[in-house]
Amino acid sequence: MPDKTIYQQLREDGLSRRDFVKFCGLLSGMIGFEFSAAGKALGATAGRDAAGVVAQALKTKPRLPVIWLELQDCAGCTEAISRSLSPSLSNLVLNRISVDYHETLMAAAGTQAEEARRATMEKYRGQYVLVVEGSPTVMAGGAFCTIGGRSNLEILKEAAEGAAAVIATGNCAAFGGLPRAEPNPTVAHAVMDLIKDKPVINIPGCPAIPDVTTGVIAHFLVLGSLPKTDALKRPVAFYGHTIHDHCLRRPFYEAGQFASDFGGRSAKAGWCLYKLGCKGPTTYNACSSLKWERGLSFPVQSGHPCLGCSEPRFWDGGGFYQGQSAPLNPPAAAAVGLAVGAGAVLGGALAAANLAGKNKAKE
Ligand code: SF4
Ligand code: F3S
Repeated sequence: MPDKTIYQQLREDGLSRRDFVKFCGLLSGMIGFEFSAAGKALGATAGRDAAGVVAQALKTKPRLPVIWLELQDCAGCTEAISRSLSPSLSNLVLNRISVDYHETLMAAAGTQAEEARRATMEKYRGQYVLVVEGSPTVMAGGAFCTIGGRSNLEILKEAAEGAAAVIATGNCAAFGGLPRAEPNPTVAHAVMDLIKDKPVINIPGCPAIPDVTTGVIAHFLVLGSLPKTDALKRPVAFYGHTIHDHCLRRPFYEAGQFASDFGGRSAKAGWCLYKLGCKGPTTYNACSSLKWERGLSFPVQSGHPCLGCSEPRFWDGGGFYQGQSAPLNPPAAAAVGLAVGAGAVLGGALAAANLAGKNKAKE
């Protein structure tokens, strides 16, 4: 008997038709359809709007199997997803539509859990999406991270071999993260360094924004492909702008008004956190536009500088709270952000120049 369609399954789970329509609208937003060439093309061909394309896919397609591996990590990305406001879109997509195997969240443990992974890999060979959280270690054949007595390297390669696509979620999987920080005692790698024969997409962040990971899974589910990425394999729909581009403290940056201490009056009044070490000008992520917890807030809004957690080498790339922001990487590594990265180095000077210009204009 063929698998039920997603729509059938959601209806059986008690989702009303009205909620289904709402769900499709929200999901199309999460996928980033406005930015997706594939989504636009499909919509134009089918004569439907974005929500209509999503609805059609959910009514005709079976659920998308997902295997979620945890390697060298703190499980922060999983924590972020499991603690997102309930019932969130992420919960709906991941719990009801997708995840077959997740060491931390699944009820099964030990041999039963390993069996569940093997069964999914066999039944859905070539169809499932592999999500990897945490960085793989290659030292001593991967012996520094073992699961069920097998090396992480062996498990990763085996799971990637039968996957349709690989999603590296969190900075550790995308770029090596904390385990890869100097002196990198386990010789941690980024997933993309080891998996070369499958499409790999990175959702960096510490943790990754749950709705972005879900959005990329949903994109694959609806369109059968990964979204367009930048030079670091990050989806452009979510990483196409810096934190600085949409920051609510930006007017203060432009006016040259910088908070000088944490919790002081200027920081509370919304002044720019650049001189407290904010790396927003060189950091590509959706925090300042999408925000966290369904738009509730994000670090800079809550009074903390952006640490650049979605960029490579963010643990080694300079003091978190140094007085001036600095690019975390040589500009060549952040190809998409070349211009903005260079601008950030000069940020303080530019802001001062802006202010001088404005003052001059007033005169
Ligand atoms: Fe916002 Fe940081 Fe840019 Fe200031 S430097 S405007 S706090 S992102
Ligand atoms: Fe990370 Fe900066 Fe967002 S530290 S969570 S990318 S505001």
